[in-house]
Amino acid sequence: MKRRGFLALGAGALASPMLAPAVAQAATGGAKATAASTAASAAGAVPADSLRALAAKVGLRFGTALIPSELTTPAYAQIAAEQFSVVTPGNEMKWQVVEPEQGVYDWSGADNLVAFAQKHGQLVRGHTLLWHNQLPNWLTDGVTAGTISATELAALLKKHIYTEVGRYKGKIWQWDVANEIFANSWDTPTADGLVSTDFWIQNLGEGIIADALHWAHDADPHALLVVNDYNITGEDGTNDKFNAVHAWARKQLSKGVPLHVIGSQAHLDTQYGFPTSMADDLKAYADLGLKTAITEADVRTFVDGPTTQVPTDRLAQWAHANWYAGMLQAALSSPDCISFTVWGFGDADSWVPGTFAGEGYACLYDVDLNPKPAYTDLQRNLQLAAYGAPHRNGGR
Ligand code: G3I
Repeated sequence: MKRRGFLALGAGALASPMLAPAVAQAATGGAKATAASTAASAAGAVPADSLRALAAKVGLRFGTALIPSELTTPAYAQIAAEQFSVVTPGNEMKWQVVEPEQGVYDWSGADNLVAFAQKHGQLVRGHTLLWHNQLPNWLTDGVTAGTISATELAALLKKHIYTEVGRYKGKIWQWDVANEIFANSWDTPTADGLVSTDFWIQNLGEGIIADALHWAHDADPHALLVVNDYNITGEDGTNDKFNAVHAWARKQLSKGVPLHVIGSQAHLDTQYGFPTSMADDLKAYADLGLKTAITEADVRTFVDGPTTQVPTDRLAQWAHANWYAGMLQAALSSPDCISFTVWGFGDADSWVPGTFAGEGYACLYDVDLNPKPAYTDLQRNLQLAAYGAPHRNGGR
């Protein structure tokens, strides 16, 4: 049967002379990783119709966030291993977790997840080095009390980055170096559109982001360095945040800052519109010579309660599936979008009910780990992307 590509996802784009060397190198890494997935698949470990196997056909990595305790449930661990080719530690690489007391490190959760990923032929997205949230109390209290000066704070961040990136050198595919630094409509922006009240920017100025990228690059020159944020591909119905990120990224690249990937978290909610600019925005970042990644995808909606998480609007489950498919299509339409990661896959462990009262049903699997229509829609879209529609029999 004659088949043709559904989407123009050319390998040539990966060899573009516009790309920074580390990005081009990652493209090679991706090819090796695809071979690894194929080998795993041939060994029977990965079902041929899994999200990871289907995505691998077009060189896309399909990932999930994980926390180690979830892996003690065998059904959960099986889905994590079979369906995904990238793992993002949901919390275990955050500063609060790895250095709860100054100089006292706990790498157990992160090590556990890296080992799980290696065992199952998965890559790892490191998350996250510079973020205003989930910082250890000794650090924030010290700054508030004035016992940690700005100079000391910068030195501590540098040490944190060298220590953590150094520990996992060669084991991390993408590092979310800076997280959620861009201003929303409710924030007061800096001249470059960053959050002026962000812990790091307020204390150390906007230049700390470039410093962090340089330190991370120094500590692991082969890791792809990501700036990760939400509402940066039109999710809030405007392109204001996208414009700020785009302009900022262009400026950093012109100064030689080692920035390789823009990570769009892509947390959607069915009460707001679907971000129709997502595909164009991803392509616009790529036009700067950057890769892109969907890093924390989920689609929440109103539900009957946090335990059962049945949508209260009977149409919501279709919107849910449709929007996941729409995000994937946006990712697939840009050959420089290298990974599509969901922020956890089971509703029982989702962050959504605890954060948005009355909402849930955000993941690909329900509270009992049954796949939802969204899962099947993603499979179908990946299948179509990989194999194309069959040629018409007797068509004219
Ligand atoms: O570890 C403590 C535990 O000791 C305590 O008993 C328990 C009681 O609440 O809390 C535990 O900490 C929780 C932690 O997750 C680990 O489970 C925190 O309360 C809770 O706030 C924290 O939530 C995490 C959230 O980031 C913090 O902002 C979510 O799990 C995590 O999924 C979420 O992830 C973020 C990304 O990093 C960045 N983008 C948004 C995304 C969703 O918020």
